Amino acid sequence: DDSFTSAMTLTNSGVPQVPDRYVLPPSQRPALGSSLGTSETTLPVIDLSLLHQPLLRSRVIHEISMACKEFGFFQVINHGIPSSVVKDALDAATQFFDLPVEEKMLLVSANVHEPVRYGTSLNHSTDRVHYWRDFIKHYSHPLSKWINMWPSNPPCYKDKVGKYAEATYVLHKQLIEAISESLGLEKNYLQEEIEEGSQVMAVNCYPACPEPEIALGMPPHSDFSSLTILLQSSQGLQIMDCNKNWVCVPYIEGALIVQLGDQVEVMSNGIYKSVIHRVTVNKDVKRLSFASLHSLPLHKKISPAPKLVNANNTPAYGEFSFNDFLDYISSNDFIQQRFIDTIK
Ligand code: SIN
Ligand code: FE2
Repeated sequence: DDSFTSAMTLTNSGVPQVPDRYVLPPSQRPALGSSLGTSETTLPVIDLSLLHQPLLRSRVIHEISMACKEFGFFQVINHGIPSSVVKDALDAATQFFDLPVEEKMLLVSANVHEPVRYGTSLNHSTDRVHYWRDFIKHYSHPLSKWINMWPSNPPCYKDKVGKYAEATYVLHKQLIEAISESLGLEKNYLQEEIEEGSQVMAVNCYPACPEPEIALGMPPHSDFSSLTILLQSSQGLQIMDCNKNWVCVPYIEGALIVQLGDQVEVMSNGIYKSVIHRVTVNKDVKRLSFASLHSLPLHKKISPAPKLVNANNTPAYGEFSFNDFLDYISSNDFIQQRFIDTIK
């Protein structure tokens, strides 16, 4: 532990051993390489190009509905975001995390409401257990409102990550429409909320970890977004299935991951569940991910769609707003497993 200076990031540290404060209690370790508590379940992969084919759309909507009910999770292929846009964004992120410590530290903030915020667990002394991750988070929609505050280094960052952010925003609208339809709601049920909603991009870097079996990149949690579109540079994400087993999410070249967040769970009155997930780390490979969190408006209360509430399905959630969530997070040390359980 004492081998660090306070102005160090995980990415730049190159420590030979996992420091004590990253070591998880045995019950929370990821059991890598053992089949204990893990599952061989095949996870759904959906070809989104078929959504645009009138004769096939309903079949895809059905696949989405099955995936959302069972997992709150699916991967999408043929999603319309060009591979060059994805590659450029990953390149820009790689260059960002490779910057000198001092440069990144200019963006550090403990305030979760900060529109652009860099974080590295090495400098947090309050958390009891630390996670093997550096990150930069920035508000991303509307892009023109926020992009000037984004990192100016590397010089390509704004342009390349901006293009990816805009493309994921378009994709998320199509997905919300399909998800609404899959619940038997109007395709544009959430249209107004989407127009006023927010997009926060969390760009994560999980450096190679000398002892991946005793640490995690992120603890188990669900996202409080409506949905999250996730890009991973290599395998590392695990999701919890309905039997509470951890399932490794396979890396599929060109695919993007879609995770339902708590807001869709509430809107669907619990027909769909937000997915609990965690991040494992790797001994040799540094992993990058982009988590684009799309949310309904910050100040508005979210409640189940009236059409999904009836005598058999009474409202399963209290009303809350995204702002309530953020206040809840900042009054707690770190991510709780499911924020939503606090308002049930
Ligand atoms: C997240 O949960 O937001 C990050 C997931 C990942 O890095 O795969
Ligand atoms: Fe997450």
